[in-house]
Amino acid sequence: MKNEKQVAGEKAAEFVKDGMVVGLGTGSTVLYTIKKIGERVKDGLSITAVATSIQTEQLAKECGIPLVNLADIDVIDVAIDGADEVDAAFNLIKGGGGALLREKIIASSAQEFIIVADSSKMVKQLGRFPIPVEVEIFGYPLTGKKIQSIGGVPKLRMNEGKPFVTDNGNYIFDCDFAAISSPEKLELNLNLIPGIVENGLFIGLVDLLITVDQKQEAVIQ
Ligand code: 5RP
Repeated sequence: MKNEKQVAGEKAAEFVKDGMVVGLGTGSTVLYTIKKIGERVKDGLSITAVATSIQTEQLAKECGIPLVNLADIDVIDVAIDGADEVDAAFNLIKGGGGALLREKIIASSAQEFIIVADSSKMVKQLGRFPIPVEVEIFGYPLTGKKIQSIGGVPKLRMNEGKPFVTDNGNYIFDCDFAAISSPEKLELNLNLIPGIVENGLFIGLVDLLITVDQKQEAVIQ
């Protein structure tokens, strides 16, 4: 039996049509979308894609999906990505996989942004999952203090005993802001702090959400 990530992920591949430029997200849910798109490419679907991470770039290549550089295209027809939390207004926390900066650039440039999420990602209010915040390495402890001054508790993301470094050469603070009453305001306030490159709040970007119901069937909203 397919798990929820596979059901939601594979469904999203149906929204990809011939001739499209497709933004490919990062993570274990959109992995199923990418694999399904790869199968369709082998069957003759003609698309080009942009990847949101080095990990996705490698997966897309393995699946035979032709890639282009973001700098070389004018339009992204559809972008498909996962999420760490989704609220009732389809605002998101993203960046659990560390790819938030490229993910947000691609999501905000796409004509249509589709989120694939298993039911565990749906929440009433954002904030149980700490917000990933990508920061310049230069002066990062000071940036962390500024995050504290607006109410967050930043924790430097580590990987095998060393700070985790993003594809863009930056660090990530995973920031606990407890229950977030105004994600719009917090997104803006975070991005006003010098040293912050981007934060994992994705507000008002989602056009379509694909999740899974109790019968393990895909639900499109
Ligand atoms: C990566 C992300 C992912 O989309 C998010 O972490 C969800 O991942 P998964 O599908 O593995 O649960 O934002 O930066």
